[in-house]
Amino acid sequence: MLDTLKKLTGYVSPAGNEENIADYIKAELGAYVDEVTTDPLGNLIAHKKGAGKKLLFAAHMDEIGLMVTYIEENGFLRVSALGGVSAYTALGQRVTFKNGTMGVVGTGSKTDPKDCKLSDLFVDIGAFSREEAEQMVQIGDVAGFVGDFSIFGNCVCSRCLDDRAGCAVLLEAVRQGKDSPNDLYFVFTVQEELGLRGAKTAAFGVMPDYGIALDVTRTGDTPDSKPMAVSVGKGPAIKVKDRSVVAHPSVKNAMADTAERLGIPYQWEVLENGGTDTGAIHLTGGGIPSGCLSIPTRYIHSPAELCAISDLENSVKLLVGLMERAW
Ligand code: CO
Ligand code: ZN
Repeated sequence: MLDTLKKLTGYVSPAGNEENIADYIKAELGAYVDEVTTDPLGNLIAHKKGAGKKLLFAAHMDEIGLMVTYIEENGFLRVSALGGVSAYTALGQRVTFKNGTMGVVGTGSKTDPKDCKLSDLFVDIGAFSREEAEQMVQIGDVAGFVGDFSIFGNCVCSRCLDDRAGCAVLLEAVRQGKDSPNDLYFVFTVQEELGLRGAKTAAFGVMPDYGIALDVTRTGDTPDSKPMAVSVGKGPAIKVKDRSVVAHPSVKNAMADTAERLGIPYQWEVLENGGTDTGAIHLTGGGIPSGCLSIPTRYIHSPAELCAISDLENSVKLLVGLMERAW
């Protein structure tokens, strides 16, 4: 699974530009499911047929990034955010455009770095005039942040574990899952970072009996962090609430029961800010009972996010248990 995760983090797929990573996931899924389709927005929907309840599992393929809005006379790029990009975190980072062009994020001397807004930043792609820059990028081109994939201690540190960690866990659960009494849909969604957009149409298209998203969640276990009862390494987190959803009791309890039955450690998650695809899924049609399995992750939306390998492995076990459970 770590090998798959490493490959997944190698794709640059800012929201709305997920085709490349979708192709990779589609090829990986092929042997394990009955059918893989792509919906009009670009969501990848894999179906493993079964007679029982219709279950939808979702992980998002997109990542936060930058979009070129304007090219200065001297070749510097002005950018706007795709999703939750912090100017402070972006400053000094390298970025890669989809066509391979690289750049570094800088700012003028007028603003203290801590007060920087995205509009104070520019991207330097090594071009010295607008004409030269236009040979390399166009208005509307998108870039992702550069960040190596490393393993240290019992943890993985990489760019966009949000939500490649969820994608890797879902892919691995599909590989390991055997006979399920349920009708399973594995959905790799687009544009989560822009407001859960892909999950909205995917859930409507599938109209499942139950929905479960897989995503990262923040933790309260670093020095001086804001109190939160989730720690890296203490098992997958079962979402109770975030700003987009209150998890349905039937799904939340099924997740906890399954974890207990299989001896998997777990933690309850109440996330005060942020949302996940669960938020879009549960409001679909006449309403879909939904929950979320979260991977505790530090430094979310930075180029060096960190999670525990044991949490990834336990998330796979829990997911397989949920797929095979009688709902
Ligand atoms: Co995110
Ligand atoms: Zn996410």
